[in-house]
Order: sequence, then structure tokens, then C-alpha cells
Amino acid sequence: TRVNLLNGGDRTLVMGPALQDVLGGGPGLRTPVWGFGQAGTARRRGGAGGAPVTWPGPTLVARKHRPVRIRWVNALPFEHMLPVDTTIHWAYSHTDRTIADHGVPTVVHLHGGHTCPEDDGHPDAWYTPAGVTGPRFARTRFHYGNDQEAATLWYHDHTMGLTRLNVYAGLAGFYLLRDDRELALIEQNRLPRGPYELELMIQDRMFHPDGRLAYPDVPASSPLWQGGPSVQHEFFGRVITVNGRAWPYVEVEPRQYRLRLLNASNSRFYRLSVGGGWPFPATWIGADGGFLHKPHRLDGPLVLSPGERADLVVDFRDLRGAVLELGNDAPTPFPKGAPAAPPTDKVLQFRVTRPYDRKVAEPLLPGAFREAPYRVAGSPARTRRLLLLDGRDGFGRPKPRLGTVERGALGWNDPVTEDPRLNTSEVWEVFNATYETHPVHLHLAHFQVLGRAPFTATRDPRTGALSDISVGRTQPPDPGETGPKDTVLAPPGQVTRIKAHFDKCGLYVWHCHILEHEEHEMMRNYRVV
Ligand code: C2O
Ligand code: CU
Repeated sequence: TRVNLLNGGDRTLVMGPALQDVLGGGPGLRTPVWGFGQAGTARRRGGAGGAPVTWPGPTLVARKHRPVRIRWVNALPFEHMLPVDTTIHWAYSHTDRTIADHGVPTVVHLHGGHTCPEDDGHPDAWYTPAGVTGPRFARTRFHYGNDQEAATLWYHDHTMGLTRLNVYAGLAGFYLLRDDRELALIEQNRLPRGPYELELMIQDRMFHPDGRLAYPDVPASSPLWQGGPSVQHEFFGRVITVNGRAWPYVEVEPRQYRLRLLNASNSRFYRLSVGGGWPFPATWIGADGGFLHKPHRLDGPLVLSPGERADLVVDFRDLRGAVLELGNDAPTPFPKGAPAAPPTDKVLQFRVTRPYDRKVAEPLLPGAFREAPYRVAGSPARTRRLLLLDGRDGFGRPKPRLGTVERGALGWNDPVTEDPRLNTSEVWEVFNATYETHPVHLHLAHFQVLGRAPFTATRDPRTGALSDISVGRTQPPDPGETGPKDTVLAPPGQVTRIKAHFDKCGLYVWHCHILEHEEHEMMRNYRVV
């Protein structure tokens, strides 16, 4: 379902439990999920008179410069449906609170939103149905100014130490932001519209035989472990869901469609294609935070890391009657792990079986979506050298970390080191000294991907700090990365350079968007001063 907020306005969205047919097993096999539902216009708690709670939550469709205010109501039960690890830094660390007594903490982040700190869903700004609040709690009614260009945004839970579980349970949804340019293109029939624009949220899951969502409930293999479930280094499910349905099919007309793809999986990367390529024209038109300069015709698989979005136009005109399988061949972990194997090599089916509606004319894509390639203006006020590195925690569990090249690994509680000045741009060079690709996400700022280069360095065995760095030839960004980005692949052994502009003051976070990493401290505060 979509919620029309094109004129701005106030809404209440309730987070609560629901039963959903995820596996296609009919009424006998319902999956308990958590989701979002719109409350009735009367300011009542609990969604009475509103729309039912769903996973994914309703797609909010907003418009640039038409502010929206959303009260996010936490009506989650007083029991988590998934195994909670209480040894990592989580909402109730260092307190004697329990979920049974105080409820499940939650706070919503608008991913890609140009948002003030109080409305950003900082991981410490959580709150519970019982009224307990985190140390940075400010309010539950968030203001979205929508002062940014048209983009495929999404909203999801961001609670300290519970994000991986709350998102897994279903707390995520799309937020499509339109602007005048996009609305004019739609008006002029230069983009597919209405039923021909589909948002697709891709997530991998596991299930118990009775249909319940399953998430690993295993102890850590350490003699020091006191019992209870342990956080995983990564989670890879064998069932691929799209919009909360396992391996669905979509019936389409033999015409052009606009697809908003989102990888909202905890850890899994996707490399999407139809049989290794695109047996129909597939055109990349937008990145995370806005349009590309020019449409880019895909000639190979499309990689989406957790958190990333791709805006595509696909053309089924010559495929009347065809059944096309959108497949995945990304290794896990990415890029050097196990090759994709059935059943995770399938994502969904397009069935070109709907009768063609002759009353709807085919759109003609424009030659360009912006006047010039996306650039972050201004010479950078400074260049920071940031670091991704492997580590272990006190129980010997893998614990990838963030830090700086000069100082090595830094934890969540270490003082802020990234403190850009208001209204300046900076270049961030992200050195990945681990063995896998991490999707690096910044709150607040959209950035330009400048490029990547291989590097070698000497690592301080104690701190992880790098010295004697030598950097190789820079590769330009991929065509799909030439629009505004907020999440970028940082491959192992490479330095990934981005340029961002910081134009709101206050405390934000940057982190790896592999949720199992983010939760185990691959996340840092940063402050615009
Ligand atoms: Cu999509 Cu900080 O997250
Ligand atoms: Cu990571």
C-alpha cells in the first residue's frame, strides 16, 4: 500500500505485530511478523480505524519541500520474537531492564533522509511502549523537511543492538520522495507511472516448519560464555523474500516498468541478472539519493549491497507471454565467499502475462535526468583517512571495526574523531583492511563516489593503525554510482573515496550496513560542528 503525502502533512504510523502469508502456504501457515500500519485519523493509539500493520510497511510517497511529520508509535509486544544477545552493546546494556518488563525498544531512521539529529533515529534515541527511553531520546514525532531531490529512501528500525532483529522481524518500508523535475517527467510521460512503478524490497530469511521466522539461536563457542544466544558474524538466509513474500512472481504487461530495488537484507549482497545478463533492455536511471546524469543501459549483473537502492526502467515489450527469472549469483560473504547456490540464486519471476492496456501510452525516457553529472561542490575542507579492520571480541567472536588510519580501531564509546564543520565538504578515504566488502553508510549526507584504488600498508599489530601506505591506480566509480549515494561498497584491499557536504549541525552516525556488523560496533558517531 502507498500513503500519499505529496501535499505534506501529519501521520501516525504504528509498529506492531501481524500475521502474514509469507510462504504461500495459505491460512494454515501464517508467519508472525512486525510491521508498520497507518493509524486512523483520530489520534488514537493502536491503529484503530487505520490500515493493518504490514511487512514491509506502507510506501510513503512525499514531495520535495512539502514537510511531513510522522509520529512513530511503538506498540510492539513485551517479548522479542527473535533471540536477543545481551552481551553486545544494546539498548538495555548496563541496566537491569528487561523486555518482559519494559518492552521492545525501537526508533525509526529514514535512510537517505536529509534529517535533523532529533529526527534521525539515532541508535540511542529508542523508546518503548512502557515509556522507557534511550540516552539520546528526543521525541517520537519526527519531522521530515524533504529538502532534497527525488530519491528512493527507506525507513527502518535503528535501535542499538537490536536493529538486525527488529528489521528482520519486518520493521522496514519505502519512502519515495518526488520533486518537480520528476513529477514533470511523469506528467510528460517520460517515466513509467502508477501501476507501472514497482518498489521491490529484497530480504533473505529462514523459517521454522510452522512458518515462524527463524534467526540463529546459538551460543558463542567460548569457555567464558554464560549461555544465551550470541550475535552472528553474518546472517545468510536460504529463502529470498521480496516485499515480504518468498520467491514471488509479478505479473506484468509487455511494456516498460520502473523498478525501485532495495537490498534490505541483514548481510546478503545480491548480484542480480536474468540468466547472467538482461534479455530485455534494462536501464539504470537512479542511485540511492537521486537520478543519474544519463540513463545507463545495463550490460551485466547489478550488485546491490545491504542498504543500497537502484532505480531501473525495464522493457518487457518484446516478451509477451515470457516468464523471466530475476536471479542472484553473488558469493557470500561478498566478494570472495561461497558461490551462490540454489535456492538463493533465485529472487523473483516476472510473468509477462497481463493483457496490454492500449489506453496507456509507452513512456519515452529522457536523454538526461540532470543537467550535469552529480558533483559535490566546493574544494574539500579536509581529507580524512578512515579504516575498516577485523578484530575479535572478549569471547573470541569476529568483530569487524571502524577506525582511522592514524589511530587504528575505535569503538562506539571512543570520542568522536569525525567532526566536519558545518557547510563544508570533505573527502573521506575508506581503507578496507578486512577480507570482505563492507557497505559504508553515512547518515545526513549524500555523497559523490570519487573512485577506488588498491593499497598496501603496514599494520600496527596492537592498534591496527596503518603506515607505509602505497596506493595504486584509481578506478572511476561504476556507472550506477554516478548519482547521489548514501551507501557505498568498500571492497577489501581498496581505498574507496567519497566526497560529502555536511549542512546540518549535530550528532549522526556512520556505519557498515551489514546489520550484524553494525550491531557489533562497526558503527561510530560523527558530529557536524
Ligand atoms: Cu539504513 Cu544507519 O541505516
Ligand atoms: Cu561490515
